[in-house]
Amino acid sequence: MRKKIVAGNWKMNMTKEEGQALISEVVNMAKDEVNSQVVMVLCPPFPHLGYAKKMFQSQANIFLGAQNCHEKTSGAYTGEVSASILKSFDVDYVILGHSERREYFQESDELLKLKVDQALANQLTPIFCCGESLAQRQAGSGFIEFVCGQITQSLFHLSSEQFAKVVIAYEPIWAIGTGLTATSAQAQEMHAALRKHIASQHGQKLADEISILYGGSAKPSNTPELFACPDVDGGLIGGASLKSRDFIDIAKSFK
Ligand code: G3H
Repeated sequence: MRKKIVAGNWKMNMTKEEGQALISEVVNMAKDEVNSQVVMVLCPPFPHLGYAKKMFQSQANIFLGAQNCHEKTSGAYTGEVSASILKSFDVDYVILGHSERREYFQESDELLKLKVDQALANQLTPIFCCGESLAQRQAGSGFIEFVCGQITQSLFHLSSEQFAKVVIAYEPIWAIGTGLTATSAQAQEMHAALRKHIASQHGQKLADEISILYGGSAKPSNTPELFACPDVDGGLIGGASLKSRDFIDIAKSFK
């Protein structure tokens, strides 16, 4: 049985007070409402990582995630945060390769490969994002190969033992923050293709154990259908993770 995961990417939102209030609401609601088998990951901006874990230490299915880490171990890289620093703050997961970082910070597949290595070397679970642009999708062909290629470039150097520790998030760029969601058929098609691609490198057994999340305008009204797809194992949630009610309802969307 692969893990069902709902991860909230707060992006660059939430002051300290707002963040504390949101976590406290999510923790309280999750306790009563969310199946304890569902893994919930909260990924706030870096400064929140210092206090957040203490707020849900007693809840075994809630984990802490960061939104990025640097590709080097340590050193003179002003403004950056290493995977080992994250680990020392009890961080469990790290989002890598988000399309916003690929676009605004020119993160390449090659650079992401190094970040994945740093994350794994420091016992952080990478939530590795991949996805095609609107132009690629509209071209009508080649977009599946492109997304699989992102996995090849940044993850296929890993051993099977290492790969087994990675979570994949398929996020069509055209669906992020736009209100446009991939249909469940589009999501299922890509997730199945990704799983097949992983199987080609690491075998079907390992591919069947990898959680592949969907991200892009996911909300309580569309996650029940998306999460019912056989190859969709949860979501990487942006906007809707900033509202406790919505985030919890999304976490309750698994059948
Ligand atoms: O990391 C989350 C994704 O970018 C999705 O964001 O749910 O606001 O579309 P969104």
